[in-house]
Amino acid sequence: MSKIAILGLGTVGTGVAKVVAENARQIERKLGEPLSVKSVLVRHFKDGPYRQLMTDDFTTIERDDEIRVVVETIGGTEAAYEYTKRALAAGKHVVTANKQLVAEKGWELMELAQKNNVNYLFEASVGGGIPVLHPLTECLCANRVDEIFGILNGTTNYILTRMVRTGAFFSDALREAQAKGYAEADPTADVQGIDAGRKICILADLAFGAQVRPEDVPMEGITKLSLRDVKVAQRAGYRIKLLGRCLRMPGGGRTAYVAPHLVPEEHPMANVEDVYNAVAIRGSAVGEVMFYGRGAGELPTASACMSDVMESLRRSPRQEGLGWSGDADGFVDPAEVSTRFYFRIEGSLMDAAMAFGQVEVLSEDGETGFLTDSIPLREALEKSERLNVLARLRVLG
Ligand code: HSE
Repeated sequence: MSKIAILGLGTVGTGVAKVVAENARQIERKLGEPLSVKSVLVRHFKDGPYRQLMTDDFTTIERDDEIRVVVETIGGTEAAYEYTKRALAAGKHVVTANKQLVAEKGWELMELAQKNNVNYLFEASVGGGIPVLHPLTECLCANRVDEIFGILNGTTNYILTRMVRTGAFFSDALREAQAKGYAEADPTADVQGIDAGRKICILADLAFGAQVRPEDVPMEGITKLSLRDVKVAQRAGYRIKLLGRCLRMPGGGRTAYVAPHLVPEEHPMANVEDVYNAVAIRGSAVGEVMFYGRGAGELPTASACMSDVMESLRRSPRQEGLGWSGDADGFVDPAEVSTRFYFRIEGSLMDAAMAFGQVEVLSEDGETGFLTDSIPLREALEKSERLNVLARLRVLG
């Protein structure tokens, strides 16, 4: 019998306990022995199906030699960081969905895991239930990865979909996403692009083998989007999506950012709706591959956690980020990344043309919506300095 502990009993922790119970037969068949949850660390004891497993003392888990894997679902970087270090030092594998901790301390925790000959695995930290980190580090390991971009936050994609499809208000759509268990405990991390930012950092760390620090990455969310831009974009054949993007720059540097983009409706990313996420990876040998699935929620995220749990129990230690070094140099300001830009200005087509030369007009009704040629953000900001800019978004492709 293999035994695990779960730290925290929120959405993901509860999902893991449910999958262990509900899929017991498949898990036993694949592991060759039954798996059970021995302990659940909580701050406050609650009645319910896991009451008998609850403890509020991490030391009992740390000292329990029967527990081979600890699933950390506390979130944040305080207690989660301390307990992760202690569990790894005690020779236990640690599996997590905690993107903040992985983005900020992942490299250090992987080193500690390696030293103790155990795993620190975090498939669930990016893309919820979508297997993407394992394919990136294993199946695509012979490629030089040049770019990754994707819809990395289920909550904001759900909100945007509701706004476009039913004209829902932002606040109502956010409340629905919270009720469905998609949003973070503090949903500002979702709507301000911080959650997607942490995920693009993890993808960039693994893809480029170097540290991309969250504090270096500009993260823009969806709070400033107006329904007007959503409609102008739609009429012109685009959907607005919040994308995280990291890429290798000419000259060898690397960069990353999160921002809302206009996505042409014929691009597969444009039709990724509701809580679904999609991640596109461009590799030097494989070309572009895309991963798609539910990006948040109890059971999808638990599915990804459980794959790491079972892998830890079945195989000798694997480190997700082999080749991920702590080197944070070589980060290039993403203002140097060229794309087309959508602008909506209080002004005429003449004003737009005087600033940018030839532009593609999308709307003209007192305000002017237009697309520029492909230019770096730095240049787009310089050229629009004298315009009264109401909205500015990047365009994908
Ligand atoms: N709040 C996150 C999201 C959860 O909405 O994508 C999954 O990481």
